[in-house]
Amino acid sequence: MSLPPQFLDDLRVRTPLPGLIGRKTRLARNGRQWKGCCPFHNEKTPSFYVYDDHFHCFGCGAHGDAIAFLMRAEGASFPEAVERLAAEAGMEVPRPTPQAAAREARARDTHAVLAAAAAAYQRRLRLPEGRAALDYLLKRGLSEETILKFGLGWSGEGRGALAAELRPEGITTDQLIEAGLMKYREPEDPASGTSDLFFSRVMFPIKDRRGRIISFGGRVMGDGQPKYVNGPETSLFHKRQSLYGWDLAREGAFRGATVIAVEGYMDVIMLHQAGFTGAVAPLGTALTTEQLAALWQMSPEPVLCFDGDAAGAKAAARATDLALPGLKPEATLKLATLPAGEDPDTLVGRQGAAAFQAVLDRAKPLSEALYDLLVGARPASTPEQRAGIRALLVEKAGSIEDKGLGAEYRRALLDRFFASTRTERPAAPAFKRGFGQGARKGPRKPWDLPPPVRVERHAPEDPRQRQARILLAILLRHPGLMHEVEEPFCLLELPAGPAELLRDALLRWHPNAEVLDSAALMDHLAQSGLGDALSWAIGAEDLPLEARPEAQPKEALDGWWHFFGFLRGEDELSRDRAEAQRMLAETNDPAAQQRLIRLTEALAALRRGETESGAYGELG
Ligand code: UTP
Ligand code: MN
Repeated sequence: MSLPPQFLDDLRVRTPLPGLIGRKTRLARNGRQWKGCCPFHNEKTPSFYVYDDHFHCFGCGAHGDAIAFLMRAEGASFPEAVERLAAEAGMEVPRPTPQAAAREARARDTHAVLAAAAAAYQRRLRLPEGRAALDYLLKRGLSEETILKFGLGWSGEGRGALAAELRPEGITTDQLIEAGLMKYREPEDPASGTSDLFFSRVMFPIKDRRGRIISFGGRVMGDGQPKYVNGPETSLFHKRQSLYGWDLAREGAFRGATVIAVEGYMDVIMLHQAGFTGAVAPLGTALTTEQLAALWQMSPEPVLCFDGDAAGAKAAARATDLALPGLKPEATLKLATLPAGEDPDTLVGRQGAAAFQAVLDRAKPLSEALYDLLVGARPASTPEQRAGIRALLVEKAGSIEDKGLGAEYRRALLDRFFASTRTERPAAPAFKRGFGQGARKGPRKPWDLPPPVRVERHAPEDPRQRQARILLAILLRHPGLMHEVEEPFCLLELPAGPAELLRDALLRWHPNAEVLDSAALMDHLAQSGLGDALSWAIGAEDLPLEARPEAQPKEALDGWWHFFGFLRGEDELSRDRAEAQRMLAETNDPAAQQRLIRLTEALAALRRGETESGAYGELG
């Protein structure tokens, strides 16, 4: 029995690999993937990597998906492995039934019917009746080779001609209806008689990812309406899950071509002819999530190509909204915009391949395109307008389900927004004198405390400001904690102003820093013009012990989580905790366990109504 590919795909999606493999060998997070010692050969240093959907050992070359893992690790047969994974994922393995067998046979038949029809249409294109259609295609700039490659044809005049032509091959009218080539005159009423779906049209076979024909599109020559007719949904043709040019683009992408989504049949064809062999198009509708997933199967960064008019901008905004939730570090997009009034077909036709290449070269990474779409021409002169824009940016970044990437987006979008609204500010000279110099020459000196700044309180300081200030002071004094707290830190809403500036600077500094040294960090910040923010955070006299240089790392870390809890708030915190619990169950990772403990403590402290002056008393 062959299992339906869709079932196997679902099974793989519903089996998180790190969880499965983590039972055999201890895994630790390593950037986007997991890493551990290979369970298939003896090793002391880890060279075994686990990705979303497969594992790979750089030591012994072991490689495969969840099913392959069980087969190797436990000597299971293929059906056994599938059975066990399905049971864990709560899925039922489809049993072979007579109905299923019949369905399979019928699908095979329908493919054969469609192939026979395509051959008939292609033959007609070369007969006198198809002459005008052939001329039309040639006049539109298609080469003979392209016409053959895409299997283009001529439908004939209809009136049952196709059925008559295919009858000697044993193909019945019922089969043509099943294939979406004929229909009852009155839907659902066989007594009403049948008619052809396609007549007097240039025929474009639509193929699945493996190159089997699943339907057709047909174009009138000239200006008749509708311009294109597409086959109806059938057992083989699911418009939302198909792409025109998919089979060819898979091959193109495999050979290194850029995967490009454009709007129309003719765009795809002309692009392939011009050498852009990764081009595909949806089938007469806006791009769907299924189609996006198909693009991501071929390439981590496909390019979506949009018209340069208002409708194009709207389509681009729609596509980004569609893409954001599923975005991953290895599944993103670029957006390209065509010159106004051109589609890829006309652009290549009039100005050649180089003109389209220039469009691709100008394509923007999604983060940039998103910013432009969201902020674009929106007015940003009043605090209300700016707050509205910020909320929108945060919201869009928040719709990315991959938390780490969402945090990066949030940061990149806000960074750019702040940069655009920030007025040029002279570097703080008084501060430079105090902080800047030691860094430039000679070995680093231990950090000299800046002269204490008395925090003048004309009005009492907002408690969130104070909590944020202490949270930042802890990290500035103990940047070694960054490894552990980076992600929650990134996701935290902080009061606008120095807290946010410092956070962003810290997050930028951390991945590039050679050593996580407090003095080096402060030198760096002072030199980046953040002197004022720095004295705001560490200059005050009221800092608790854990925000001081002499605190032990453990004390500092406890304090950090404590203030994090206050700033995060109870609702968010309990959601974080649930998420950490899920992660731990799934991955059994010690880091996840640590996180869970911390969040639990922070939440408990918060619920006890502890204030900072309780366990973390003011010592200043
Ligand atoms: P366009 O009108 O941009 O078509 O529609 P095109 O590809 O540029 O076609 P030419 O160059 O005029 O031949 C884009 C796509 O929208 C769908 C088709 O898939 C078409 O390729 N469409 C368009 C329809 O399904 N029906 C229509 O009536 C028009
Ligand atoms: Mn066109």
